[in-house]
Amino acid sequence: MATIAMRVSQEDLSQVPRGTERIPEPGILVIFGASGDLTKRKLLPALFHLEQNSLLPANFAIVGVARRSLGDEFANDMREGIVEFGGVDKNDPKLDSFAGRISYFALNFDDPGHYAALKAELDRISAEKNIGPDRLFYLATAPEFFAGIIENLGAQGLAQPEKGKTAVVIEKPFGHDLDSARELNHQVNAVFHESQVFRIDHYLGKETVQNVLVFRFANGIFEPIWNRNYIDSVQITAAETLGVEGRGPFYEKAGALRDILQNHMMELLSFVAMEPPSSFEAESVRREKLKAWQAIPPIPILNTVRGQYGPGVIDGQRVPGYRDEERVDPESGTETYAAVRLEIENWRWAGVPFYLRAGKRLKKRVTEVSIQFKQPPLLIFNRMQSAGPCTEIQPNLLTIRIQPDEGIALRFGAKVPNAPGMSVCPVIMDFDYAAAFGRSTANGYERLLLDAMLGDQTLFAHRDGVETTWALYTPILQAWANKKPEVFPNYFAGKWGPECADRLLEKDGNVWRNNLGK
Ligand code: BG6
Repeated sequence: MATIAMRVSQEDLSQVPRGTERIPEPGILVIFGASGDLTKRKLLPALFHLEQNSLLPANFAIVGVARRSLGDEFANDMREGIVEFGGVDKNDPKLDSFAGRISYFALNFDDPGHYAALKAELDRISAEKNIGPDRLFYLATAPEFFAGIIENLGAQGLAQPEKGKTAVVIEKPFGHDLDSARELNHQVNAVFHESQVFRIDHYLGKETVQNVLVFRFANGIFEPIWNRNYIDSVQITAAETLGVEGRGPFYEKAGALRDILQNHMMELLSFVAMEPPSSFEAESVRREKLKAWQAIPPIPILNTVRGQYGPGVIDGQRVPGYRDEERVDPESGTETYAAVRLEIENWRWAGVPFYLRAGKRLKKRVTEVSIQFKQPPLLIFNRMQSAGPCTEIQPNLLTIRIQPDEGIALRFGAKVPNAPGMSVCPVIMDFDYAAAFGRSTANGYERLLLDAMLGDQTLFAHRDGVETTWALYTPILQAWANKKPEVFPNYFAGKWGPECADRLLEKDGNVWRNNLGK
């Protein structure tokens, strides 16, 4: 298929404003669970990128908190992580001073006495480094510790101090079903006001996810056709080639539906489906997302598919099946693939099927949204002679590539030159993020960390949103738990998931788009 590239001129690029460049107030970022992978691979590299762009206040400290006694080893380890995972030169002149901002405090998450000591330590750092009273607590621990940490922060007066602002960032998973999410919300809001709570979903930190809103609401030509009159169906795919990467015990309890569908994919869906918010303020954006989710009727179990990978080949390498992964039950019933067909019952979307799928060990790593438009009302060219691959007129397709190969492609029909009659062939108009703007080293946490420090909740989940998406998926989880899958594993690693997933689309006359990416 021919491809037409879209270009951004250097002149245009030089005009691009580089963010709001608001700098947070001096303060301390306290990361609970700091000895885990997330801190080293994502959070510290992101914080260093902020430092490189002079977006951190001069008086700012990072305190890693975890159970192990690590001391100075922690700052050195974080420095290595910044270089290895942040694409940073090990001789970067800012690395030394940045490492000087990092310290470590060993704490038993469920020991109240340790929180009194933590409070004293934070006061000491504040006094020594002339940092104000603002604190941001980041919970990156295993989820079973969230409630206890929050309660202890409250009991020590760390959540509502007399001076300064405080907030809490809570990593996913936020609950494991509707009841547990409600309970956690209750525990969180007993200590922190909702305006202090930042439930993080790292998908919202991705430029390409945010760009869905820009694409829709900063351009005049797409919104008029963004509805049931012109759109036939929407597919959202989050495919990974990776397996569970040593996270067997976590994944055994999670599965693909809890891990990706209920959160990342629903966030993406809300950006595709929501009504235009009246502003890009947290309240407005979150209200419209919620309305879109609330318009989704219960998903019949017949419109769901689960799968589990068996052994197979990915990129020429043999990989084991899920049940043979480290610390996974050899008879596990956990799904590593989940797909649903849902509808959104409102005036914009009634009758348009949305197909969502997520899976591990699939053929290709790709996250994308593809929007298939309806055929023109009259196909005047379809009986003309066509040649080669251009045998039938294909509907317009808009593909928003979230990752990798970030970009947007529009497929449309073009007349084949010098061919007999009116032969029509699909061509693609392609916007490639990296080619237009250069490749970015950002991992998405930069934006979210900065927003949390600035108190901007636009890209964070509200309690009502979290509960609404859990309400939608909890009955499916219950139905799956009550009935063991008949045949697991049901797809080979390196394929596009179980064959039965095709049936979700068949009744609408649709097929999964498996030639994803560019
Ligand atoms: C995490 C999941 O939230 O997202 C992982 O727990 C998954 O299982 C990851 O691999 C995918 O994130 P990304 O940014 O690589 O698409």
